[in-house]
Amino acid sequence: MKKIAVFTSGGDSPGMNACIRAVTRTAIYNHLEVTGIMRGYKGMIEGGENYVSLNSRSVGNIIQRGGTILKTSRSNEFMTAEGRKKAFENLKLNSIDALVCIGGNGTFTGAEIFYNEYKIPCIGVPGTIDNDLSGTDFTVGFDTAINTALGAIDKIRDTAESHERFFFVEVMGRDAGYIALASGIAGGAEIVLLPEVKENFDQIVSYFNKSIHSKKSFSIAIVAEGNYEGGAFEMVNQIKKYIPTFDPRIVILGHIQRGGSPTAYDRVLASRLGNAAVEGLLKGETNKMAGLINNQVALTPFNESISKSKKLNPELLKLIDIFNC
Ligand code: F6P
Repeated sequence: MKKIAVFTSGGDSPGMNACIRAVTRTAIYNHLEVTGIMRGYKGMIEGGENYVSLNSRSVGNIIQRGGTILKTSRSNEFMTAEGRKKAFENLKLNSIDALVCIGGNGTFTGAEIFYNEYKIPCIGVPGTIDNDLSGTDFTVGFDTAINTALGAIDKIRDTAESHERFFFVEVMGRDAGYIALASGIAGGAEIVLLPEVKENFDQIVSYFNKSIHSKKSFSIAIVAEGNYEGGAFEMVNQIKKYIPTFDPRIVILGHIQRGGSPTAYDRVLASRLGNAAVEGLLKGETNKMAGLINNQVALTPFNESISKSKKLNPELLKLIDIFNC
């Protein structure tokens, strides 16, 4: 193995740049050449200027920056055999022997199929704010995202208290509730609605009835985007049919959660996992994700990491009920 390539793919997450830096510098330390592939699988397929040579200096002063200097995309073409063939041809043209991919479920699914067809070794690093990958306690970007959500929730509490209002705050996470659960507990939310714990509508209405009749002058509910079809706006519309006097405010935090300077935790995590990915390739590993299990670096096969077997911590779920009194 002489030359590796690194790329970011899927939704960006804070800490991806710290990881690109770690991959590049670990590779150089081990006398490997490094190419950065711009725009994920899309750039891999399109070739040309999407393949850029990286050195220690080109990854300087990026550890603190959100986003990804390599850009990212979600590629439908890579899901086709023809697209993957073009990608392979471009990798060969650029003498790439192995890959480090930084991304989430879709990225690793693509990497697994690609390896099975073309046998180019690949190790992944979990880069997603959703924290929905098995084989790692945390994904790169999750800690920053929950702190960003928390900053917003704290501000919303100020105005909620002043106006004695009920607020719904919708957070990201796709079909996983990790962001909602963590920001809900840290933000002192009264109600946290998660995709994993689907209440029926009567239960939701009764939560809010209870809350309206409690002695609290204001309340915050965190709604995971995957909890209710149509999201927080639709949920509130439906609740109003049962409780016409209910007049909450709704805040959708959206892509703010994906940006910003990574926290110290995310920088260290990204640095450890980027390093582990290259060391894994050097040891002949492939088709695995470098993650952190009980604070120890571990490699988990892609198919296990995307299996969705990581469950929300029941201890944290219980806290929501205990503190809501
Ligand atoms: O997977 C990361 C994520 O931010 C999810 O939380 C969210 O559902 C989705 O990406 C949004 O995707 P897009 O970038 O296409 O708007």
